[in-house]
Amino acid sequence: MIHLKKVNKRYSDNTYAARNMSLHITSGEFVSIVGQSGTGKTTLVKMLIAEERLSSGIIEIGNWDITNIKHSEIPVLRRQVGVVFQDYKLLPKKTVYENIAFALEVCGVKQGNIDMIVPQVLKVVGLEEKHDKFPQQLSGGQKQRVAIGRALVHRPKVLVADEPTGNLDTINAQEIIDLLLKINALGTTVLLVTHNKDIVNRLRKRVIAVDDGVIVSDQKTGKYII
Ligand SMILES: Nc1ncnc2c1ncn2[C@@H]1O[C@H](COP(=O)(O)OP(=O)(O)OP(=O)(O)O)[C@@H](O)[C@H]1O
Ligand SMILES: [Mg+2]
Repeated sequence: MIHLKKVNKRYSDNTYAARNMSLHITSGEFVSIVGQSGTGKTTLVKMLIAEERLSSGIIEIGNWDITNIKHSEIPVLRRQVGVVFQDYKLLPKKTVYENIAFALEVCGVKQGNIDMIVPQVLKVVGLEEKHDKFPQQLSGGQKQRVAIGRALVHRPKVLVADEPTGNLDTINAQEIIDLLLKINALGTTVLLVTHNKDIVNRLRKRVIAVDDGVIVSDQKTGKYII
């Protein structure tokens, strides 16, 4: 599902954020990416959604080589690879329903379909009762659920979560992880970037550790080692 071949990323100021990264993630996997601050985790996420270009190497999503993806095709990629970030990135003047619906509106989806999809997504993320609330009326965990819901509207093959629990307390964090596990069980490949040692250790799933842009460990049922 995700294939990296000898990926290097050098930013314009000569900072290396990926060095000779090769990686294969199969459809349906749940993979945690761990590593200290500044080691290249977010850069990897950005390359997967074509927010950053590679300096060299190849990235494939499914059988699609996105290394030199055309600008006009990026929206197609973003429908296949949903992403959520630590800071939610919700639209403050839109309700929960509208935030999720907006991701469909911008793609020209018809209102009838939007009205069908959004309630389904709200159900998956457990926010049916909060559909008419604004982001500021929600807890951190609930905001992250909206962001996850928004990332799911196009039924992506892959969901990438970059520190989704970074702003949450232990209980809310675990609920978000449980939601990611549920989404994974429904068939979506999940990539979780996290600093949270307890979460990674409890998951008992594949763990990839990154240090200074290099994959230093890749374990099938790994523990947090950095
Ligand atoms: N736009 C940019 N221009 C130049 N250097 C950058 C840019 N973005 C990131 N970097 C550098 O690339 C390296 C990797 O950054 P990245 O954000 O991928 O790290 P990270 O592993 O996600 O860190 P954190 O855990 O703090 O989120 C860092 O040295 C960072 O300073
Ligand atoms: Mg980061």
